[in-house]
Amino acid sequence: MAVRGGWLQAAIFDMDGVITRTDRLHAAAWKSTFDDMLRQRAEHGGTWQPFDEHAEYRAYVDGKPRQEGVRTFLRAREITLPEQEIASLAERKDAMFEQLLREKGVQTYPSTLALIEALRAKGIKTAVVTSSRHGREVLRSAKLIALFDVCLDGNDLAASGLKGKPNPDIFLRAAELLEMPPRRMMVVEDAVAGVQAARLGNFNLVVGIDRGGNAEALARAGADIVVTDAAALSIDRLDSAFRDRQEKAAWRIEQEGFDAARERQMESLFLVGNGYLGVRGALDTPLPGSQADLFIAGLYDRKRAALPYSEIEFLAPERDDPYAELVPLPFPFRLAISVEDVALDFSANAGRELRRSLDMRQGTLHTEAVYETEGGRRTTVRTSRCASLANAHVLLQEVVITPENHWATVSLDVALIDPDMAARHPHIECIAHIANGDMELVHYATRASGFHICLVSRVWRETNSLRRIISVFTSRDGVDPVAAATAQAEALRPDDFVRLLGENGETWADFWFRADVRVTGRASVEQALRFGSYHLRLAASDDARVSIGARTLSGRAYEGHVFWDAEIFMLPFYLHTDPRRARNLLLYRHHTLDGARRRARGFGCNGACFAWESTVTGDDVTPSHITLKSTGKEIPIYTGRQQIHITADVAYAAWRYWEMSGDDDFLAGPGADLLCETARFWASRVVRGDRHYHIRGVVGPDEYHHSVNDNAYTNWMARFNLDRAAVLAKQLGMNQSEAEEWTAIAQALYVPPPNEHGVIEQFEGFFALEDMAVPGEARFKVPAGRLFEWERINHAKLLKQADVLMLPLLFPDAFTDAVVAANYRYYEPITDHGSSLSPPVHAAIAARIGAKADAERYLKQSLWLDLSDTMGNSTLGVHPATMGGIWQALVFGFLGVRFDDSGPRADAAATERLPEGWEGVTLRLAHLGRTHTLEVRRPAKGEVPP
Ligand code: BGC
Repeated sequence: MAVRGGWLQAAIFDMDGVITRTDRLHAAAWKSTFDDMLRQRAEHGGTWQPFDEHAEYRAYVDGKPRQEGVRTFLRAREITLPEQEIASLAERKDAMFEQLLREKGVQTYPSTLALIEALRAKGIKTAVVTSSRHGREVLRSAKLIALFDVCLDGNDLAASGLKGKPNPDIFLRAAELLEMPPRRMMVVEDAVAGVQAARLGNFNLVVGIDRGGNAEALARAGADIVVTDAAALSIDRLDSAFRDRQEKAAWRIEQEGFDAARERQMESLFLVGNGYLGVRGALDTPLPGSQADLFIAGLYDRKRAALPYSEIEFLAPERDDPYAELVPLPFPFRLAISVEDVALDFSANAGRELRRSLDMRQGTLHTEAVYETEGGRRTTVRTSRCASLANAHVLLQEVVITPENHWATVSLDVALIDPDMAARHPHIECIAHIANGDMELVHYATRASGFHICLVSRVWRETNSLRRIISVFTSRDGVDPVAAATAQAEALRPDDFVRLLGENGETWADFWFRADVRVTGRASVEQALRFGSYHLRLAASDDARVSIGARTLSGRAYEGHVFWDAEIFMLPFYLHTDPRRARNLLLYRHHTLDGARRRARGFGCNGACFAWESTVTGDDVTPSHITLKSTGKEIPIYTGRQQIHITADVAYAAWRYWEMSGDDDFLAGPGADLLCETARFWASRVVRGDRHYHIRGVVGPDEYHHSVNDNAYTNWMARFNLDRAAVLAKQLGMNQSEAEEWTAIAQALYVPPPNEHGVIEQFEGFFALEDMAVPGEARFKVPAGRLFEWERINHAKLLKQADVLMLPLLFPDAFTDAVVAANYRYYEPITDHGSSLSPPVHAAIAARIGAKADAERYLKQSLWLDLSDTMGNSTLGVHPATMGGIWQALVFGFLGVRFDDSGPRADAAATERLPEGWEGVTLRLAHLGRTHTLEVRRPAKGEVPP
């Protein structure tokens, strides 16, 4: 049997009209049954209009279970019959079919049979799935049953209570029996209901067979290819269509159907943005409960108590700091559409169908919604939106409204103003609102921080469609944002829409050229990796006065604060795809040095100590305590005072940036400030013991333990910080005695060594803590309230996230594989991954030590963390640290990439580490001003590896 890669692996065939010519027998049986009934009704008055055995057969009964067919046809003719009569019509049709079958026998389509045989010869599994109760009997009598691994017919449908087409149940059952995921399969159908069912079941390729006049309907229902006969289908053609589909799908994130419960999660996932701003993916006509926010990087205001902290359940206290919280601004894409004064939205009963598709390649969100209002009026609304990546001050939106079956008046209102401003956007007041023809201006100001924001929209209308371009400027961009937004809007011409769209597409293409990761054989992984890169790109600004918050510009969690996530988890992605952005993240820290100096002084220390949670000035904005909404229980938060490793994390990132970019100007300028000011902090923060220096009273990465001494991670990072600062200071000829002191402290700083089992103690006394049994699976379902068991977990051997295991990620060559493995085996079972930062680090380390199953499990968990909302908090924004962590796990963990003078190299074991089903990985990595392509490919069977 031929070995097939990630491509087409199984095919499902409908029977009637695809394999057998029984469709014509069915059509004739329906005609005779319905015509009898229709004739009788006509005799009691009314006109006699016979059943159309082509058009009506295809539209209402083809492919459906019998009774469903009767019902659909009667509904279409507006005939109401009692259930009993419906059943009897179905029976009569069946008897008639049997009679015709006996008279005419089963005829087949030889081209379909040839195709099935060819597929089977290639090792592709085949199934036949039909709603007909006679399926098996027909196939048996035509001696075709041996052509299929699985055969399901109407009897199976009835016996198992599965719903008929267009519901995907029966296809999915076949996939289950074939033990094959739908994404690896194709479906061949001649009925619209069957095509719809295949699409709903997420089968990768759907082929429509048009036996006459049905091509357009099949294509509209979602068939990828429509042919008049299977003779037009070669295996090569199918394979290539299959790959095309997979490729296209891997560039999109799609949602089918409206689900109120998941709407806020969707709003986070479907973010559009460009680093300057982010607009949540709310529907164009937002629901009353939606969080339809626009966020602009760097726009903070005083904390408002009503907004959640890191979880919906957690509240942080109000504070006086005018830059405490990222400001949610009103949704700029808001539309109000009505048909004869009835609003088209999903909050009322009007919404019928919803399809959203995020095109990551172009950074554009497409939405198609179908509404039904009074009198069965159906109206389709298609919209597209993006935030230009080429001009950060531009938002583009296109709307096309199609009344499907009516001529009623459609009205479309595009007012920018939020009808519920005060409740939803408490940080701002509206200073001016001017609507003037196709132009509208809104001017807001934040209440405590005094930022000004101006949006000016220009609209071009045609019948039932419009294009809108919105210009956005703030007082952070220049002294007069109103003038800037107005000038940009006034200069626009109608064809600028297409030009701006084109420029946006080109800028995205440029990004993907540098950042795309191809995973041959696993389109779904490729898609999830792209989802991460997409959001990381959306998060990164051109403005060096801002960094990236823990949830980017995608949601309200963590109040938009910047953590170590930016330097340790995200920065490597930028460093190797677009180094300027990595530089910007570091310049942000440089920009906030004064705040960090104030903080160090507040601790009675010298130099600079970066805020654990940072916004505009660098002053720490970590809440002093948080409250659990449901119980009112309050707990102190120690991280603001104790999680000082952030300071060394910044220095580490600055050094790595220089090593990987060769940007000497940076190192000699802002880099030196960062390294030296932080080293000064450490030199004053350490305490002298008998033989060593120590760092006492800290929180390490694992936030379940506070006030601990000599946290291995913190001390290791501080030592690196001191040591590199000393090297640099010597090189730059700075104060030599200070540099000598840093070297001396670095050398004598206590860094816990591996014990006799190779395990590094997380902090002084960790090994003596109480064991806390958290059974296997429970570790992956952390209750949001675990933090609130504060006193208990502080004394237990339970970790929130990777702590010691961060070290081999950041210093891969400093540890032997045996030591890394010993630490993984010790810490992994006692870590509950209460932080989204944890799984990707575990994936990286497990990959390195050859713990394949763990590596793949943690990678999966990380890849689908937001897409499947596994932590239950993606509603409050996506998790960019996980995304950056995934990228590192792949590059440094699975591929074992190291850099030398000639560029990146994957290590020798990389191919063995590739997860199950991956044929190869290709990506580009920037290093010392050059971009290198790196390819790791599993050798094909029989191929000798190079
Ligand atoms: C984690 C921190 C992280 C923060 C923001 C916390 O839950 O413990 O390591 O920096 O979330 O993502």
